[in-house]
Formats: sequence, structure tokens, C-alpha cells
Amino acid sequence: MLFQQSEAEPEEDISYKDNPNYCESRLDFPKLIDEYGWKIGIEVGTYSGEYSEYLLESSKLEKLYSVDKWRDHMGDSQFYPPLEAKVECRKRLRKFGKRSVMQQKESLEASWDFENQHFDFIYLDAGHDSVNFMHDLGTWYKKTKIGGFFGGHDYMVMPYEGATVVFLTDIFAGLVGQRLYVTGARNHTPQERHKVACVTASKFLEKGEEDKFDHPSWYIIRNG
Ligand SMILES: C[S@@+](CC[C@H](N)C(=O)[O-])C[C@H]1O[C@@H](n2cnc3c(N)ncnc32)[C@H](O)[C@@H]1O
Repeated sequence: MLFQQSEAEPEEDISYKDNPNYCESRLDFPKLIDEYGWKIGIEVGTYSGEYSEYLLESSKLEKLYSVDKWRDHMGDSQFYPPLEAKVECRKRLRKFGKRSVMQQKESLEASWDFENQHFDFIYLDAGHDSVNFMHDLGTWYKKTKIGGFFGGHDYMVMPYEGATVVFLTDIFAGLVGQRLYVTGARNHTPQERHKVACVTASKFLEKGEEDKFDHPSWYIIRNG
């Protein structure tokens, strides 16, 4: 059978307020990190280090790896050129001393440094195109401890990559038999998740709305 019996969809209608794993936005992840006592994390696709800085400031993570290739420009003049982003990232993360490890590597190359099930917390925000994202899902999931967090940014329809992240995470969660959560999608049913993905996309396309909301993140709490 291609699909394992999946816990992806809730069988009963538990209120999202009673679900300890519910997060309204990725800004809630540090709370989850500390409640579960997760200690070792990685952000793959770090850019200027804003989210790595937030994670280190707001949680008791003992070590966070911040990986980026810092090579290609993100294509829009509002973004720093890669080397400036790297310098900015270093400036932001220096203050965390040994808690922060910056690595300039391709995602796949970075994964070779770690044993399977090394990480308590993995956050993917690198390539969102189908080839890179599919490789990241397959590669980094194995590096997540049982009981740990495997997630990433931009569960939404993107102007260039389309619905790649939405489709691939939905399929991936089904294949590995795990429940898929999406920030802001209260009871995490497929209907709610997809609504969040589409509503965010329409805001994204309205000029000037970009900074006013947080893109949804998807996540799995790996239970096997
Ligand atoms: C959207 S930005 C990350 C933003 C950051 N996560 C944040 O929330 O502040 C995406 C980053 O992924 C990096 N990236 C894209 N593909 C990559 C790959 N294959 N390996 C490593 N980094 C990659 C890009 O260089 C870029 O800096």
C-alpha cells in the first residue's frame, strides 16, 4: 500500500484551544520548543538571520544551526544580495556565542554532517521549488528525532513556485503517516489548511500587504 495508515487528519473534533500543539503563527514555536524541552535545532535557509535570532532569543534551545548557501540573489530588489545577508546574519547571531552555529552550505551538503534523528527541531525555509523542496523533505525528515519537530515556512500558494509546498507537505505527511499542522489553521483539517494557504496567497498578491502578516508554517510532531 502506498500510503500508511495516516494520523494526518483528526478523527474527532477537538477544539484547537485544547490541542497543546496548536500554534497561531511561527512566533509561537519557541513556546512549543520549551514545553517539549527541545534542545538542538536547525534552520535551513536562514537569509539574514532574523528568524534564527528570534528562535534563540525566545527559547531555551542550547544549539541552533543556521544554514544557508548565501549564493544566489533572492530575485527582488527588496532583498539583500547574498553576501550582505550573510554579514547581517553574522551580526545578528554573534551575541549567542556557542548556542549559534552558522554554516554556509547547500542544504543537502549540510545534512551529511548529521546522524539520523540528530535534531529536536528542524525548520525548512530554503528552496521552495519542487525539486529542492522534495529533496529537503526526504533528507531532513530522517534527521528529526522521534518526538521532535519537523516543519517549515510558506504553506501557501507562491507567485513563482505555485502550490508546491502545500501539495508536497500534504503528500509527505500522508506517506510518513504523520499529522500535518499548519499555523493559523485551527483544527488543521485539509479544508482549513488550504483556506489558510489561499487566503495568505491573495494577501501576498495585494501590493504592500507583504509585511502585514506572517506566512503560514507547516509542521509535524514526529511520533514514529
Ligand atoms: C526565504 S529566505 C529565508 C528566510 C529566513 N528563514 C527567515 O525567516 O528569516 C530563503 C533562503 O534560503 C536559501 N536557500 C535556498 N536554497 C537553498 C539551498 N539549496 N541550500 C541552502 N540554502 C538555500 C537562500 O539563499 C535564502 O537566503
